[in-house]
This record gives sequence, structure tokens and C-alpha cells, in this order.
Amino acid sequence: MSQRTVSIYPGSFDPPTNGHVDLIERGAKLFAQLIVAILRNEEKASLFTVDEKSEMLREAVKHLPNVSVEAFDGLLVRFAADRGARVILRGIRAVSDYEYELQMALMNRKLQPGIETVFMLPGEAYSYISSRLVKEIYWLGGDVSSLVPPIVVERLKGKRI
Ligand code: PNS
Repeated sequence: MSQRTVSIYPGSFDPPTNGHVDLIERGAKLFAQLIVAILRNEEKASLFTVDEKSEMLREAVKHLPNVSVEAFDGLLVRFAADRGARVILRGIRAVSDYEYELQMALMNRKLQPGIETVFMLPGEAYSYISSRLVKEIYWLGGDVSSLVPPIVVERLKGKRI
């Protein structure tokens, strides 16, 4: 890996969690530039809009000078190639993540052989956090303040059912 490697960290981020931020911090140490790429998917019902996700992510990673946040449409590998990225960064929490990640990584490699997927493990303390569970716990009145960045707690309050 060269000192100038650009890496893309893609996801739905609905909402961003402390697990995402942990992985971004780890990736920012490895790569010269890390672009957090939010999927703009009209079909998938999201709690937060892409603009809201961007705002929350920017706030959560503002201490990392080599990290930027963007949204993307269409094929991830095309976006990555447009940005000159050679790496797609993904986190794997448990074995259950592996099958989906393997399929995506192999398909992305078939589509764009010049781009490698790199998997990293989040800190153990984050291995059970998912955006889906954060939303469920929040709706059921649970405390999510140790699971997501403070700005996400704030923005969740504006999302009453
Ligand atoms: O946070 P998620 O939902 O696990 O992220 C999934 C994401 C955004 C990485 C994946 O859905 C994706 O890359 N979508 C873009 C469309 C695409 O390139 N599809 C082919 C993947 S093999």
C-alpha cells in the first residue's frame, strides 16, 4: 500500500454508530485519505435523509483531518474509481457478517479488479452495535447514548414516530 492510498468506507449509516466511527478512526490511521461514502438509495426506506447522515458523520469525524464525507449513487466501484480509490474498507463484526461481505467483495473485484476490499475489525466494545438495533432500542425507549455519537442522540430526538 502506498503512502497516498485513497480508501472508501461505504455504507447506509442509518444512523451512524460508534462502531462506524471506531472503524473510520482505524482506517484514517492506515490510509492517506479516507472518504466516507453514504449510499443514496431511493428504494431503501431510511429514517434519516442523506443530508442528515452527512451532517451527523461530518460532526462525528471532524477530529480526523484526512477523512471526508460524500454521498454516492449507482455502483460503488464506479464511485471509488472516480475518486482514485484503490481500497474499499469494510468492517466485519462477527461471522454472521462474513457471507454478505464476501459476496460483495468478490462481486466488486469482478467489476473493478484494480480495487481491493480491506476488512477491519471494530473494537470488541462495538462488535454488537448495529444501526438497526440502535433504532429499535431507541423506539422502545432504551438509552442509546453509549452506542452512537452525541449528535445522533440529538437528531434521533427529532424523529418521533
Ligand atoms: O451499510 P450497508 O447497508 O451494509 O452498506 C451497503 C453498501 C452501501 C456498501 C452496498 O449496498 C453498496 O455498495 N451499494 C452500492 C451499489 C453497488 O455497488 N452494488 C453492488 C455491490 S456488489
